[in-house]
Amino acid sequence: MTAKSTLDDAWQGISSLPQLMLTDLFASDPERVAKLSQKLEFDLGDLGQVGMLLDWSKTHLDDAALDAFEALAAAAGFAAARDALFSGGIVNSTEGRPANHGAMRGSGREADVEEAEALLARMGMLVEAIHEGALGEIKHLIHIGIGGSALGPDLAVDALTRDLKLVDVHVVSNIDGLALEQAFAACDPATTLIAVASKTFTTIETMTNAASALKWLEGNDVADPGGRVVALTANPERAVEWGVDETRILPFPESVGGRYSLWSSIGFPVALAVGMEDFRAMLAGAKAIDDHFRQSEGRANGPLLAAFADQYYTRLRGCQTRAVFAYDERLALLPDYLQQLEMESNGKRVTSVGDPVAGPTAPITWGGVGTDAQHAVFQLLHQGTYLVPVDFIASIAPGDELDPSHHRQLLMNCFAQGAALMAGKDSDDPARTYPGDRPSAMFLVDDLDATMLGALIAFHEHRTFANAVLMGINPFDQFGVELGKAMAKSIDSGEGQFDSSTERLMAAARLR
Ligand code: F6P
Repeated sequence: MTAKSTLDDAWQGISSLPQLMLTDLFASDPERVAKLSQKLEFDLGDLGQVGMLLDWSKTHLDDAALDAFEALAAAAGFAAARDALFSGGIVNSTEGRPANHGAMRGSGREADVEEAEALLARMGMLVEAIHEGALGEIKHLIHIGIGGSALGPDLAVDALTRDLKLVDVHVVSNIDGLALEQAFAACDPATTLIAVASKTFTTIETMTNAASALKWLEGNDVADPGGRVVALTANPERAVEWGVDETRILPFPESVGGRYSLWSSIGFPVALAVGMEDFRAMLAGAKAIDDHFRQSEGRANGPLLAAFADQYYTRLRGCQTRAVFAYDERLALLPDYLQQLEMESNGKRVTSVGDPVAGPTAPITWGGVGTDAQHAVFQLLHQGTYLVPVDFIASIAPGDELDPSHHRQLLMNCFAQGAALMAGKDSDDPARTYPGDRPSAMFLVDDLDATMLGALIAFHEHRTFANAVLMGINPFDQFGVELGKAMAKSIDSGEGQFDSSTERLMAAARLR
């Protein structure tokens, strides 16, 4: 049998699975919760214990589905693909590159890990020097980047600086000048450092914002404004050409993809805000998940099990979206981060060898924070016509120091939503009927500290990778973003003919 027909058979097995109700699945198997939940616990030495309870029992996966998905993982060559990921194999086939983000946190080929460690040590020295005043008094950092060069740092800084921040960080991504003006208004130029974060050091939004930020320093009589710029990039030559002194360039390897780059020097604002020790704790949490992902098989592998559920809902139930609700203010930016991670990685229409993908690919990721979202979008989740698999994320330890009733209410609401989505409720009144049977999964973490944040993010990186392997997709390229960029350039250059609608818009806005 060819590999293709084994894969087709595996998908065939999945598509013929019976569709049972969640309540029936619970009733027919008293072991269901034990089978579909697991507590990941890692002892990180001085950093303490990391504990994360994962519960997939309120999804429609059952023994038969898990068997079928394990057969799919085997047919898709999951174990070999995972080995390739961690051994520097060319997993980004369309660009002929490995994906070495794991090495940045110590998981990978020895040579890659050593290179990563040297780069991080260099970043650590600069962070320490800045904290000690080597660049003068630094109270603010304006971090300029976009996409993967902004979303991870923004999430991590927001999540980890609720109690204490060594430097006040503003992440600016949008080319809309209002974004940069807002950062300027919050910072004193005399004590502000600018970080220009761009893997390529060519991205138009970032380079335009960087030039304006430099002008802002110059226009505010900062002595040696160029000395206040740090570059975070995989293209150090370009940063030198742009005018950044080599001593303030923090490089990272080309093989670390933009949306996987938080662990590299792109994480500089996180390290500056929380200190290198906590930044390294974040890497250690991610490494713990790397180890789990590398060492666990089949349904015992958390990210792979999550991918089984993802595939079940997109391919079998036709779900076009997947929602994530963190019942934790510190994860308010997680849905934005996951949108890029999942949609830019797996929003593809061809496989890694260029064949059309045999089914839907990444669903649209969306979400928000609980309990806010309950009073805004949960109506649709409970009674709308779309089936939306939901992930809930919550921390047992509170992030706040107010009366414990806050955290108690937060958690109770979170658990109640999952139960209500599943159970539903009958009524004589159709408007008051809840159909139920709506799936959710739970990440209940012991505490949301730097290690846990690293673990949560790495979990989602591997979940994304596992989904890609099951679908045969290369998750590490992003050609879909290029056409729009090229068209914007040709509008700028005044060349090129556009459709009559676009021509009229350009004329109306006097762009031509
Ligand atoms: O346009 C998409 C993209 O290439 C993302 O993949 C990337 O994270 C972002 O742009 C920023 O790119 P860079 O870090 O090279 O500025």
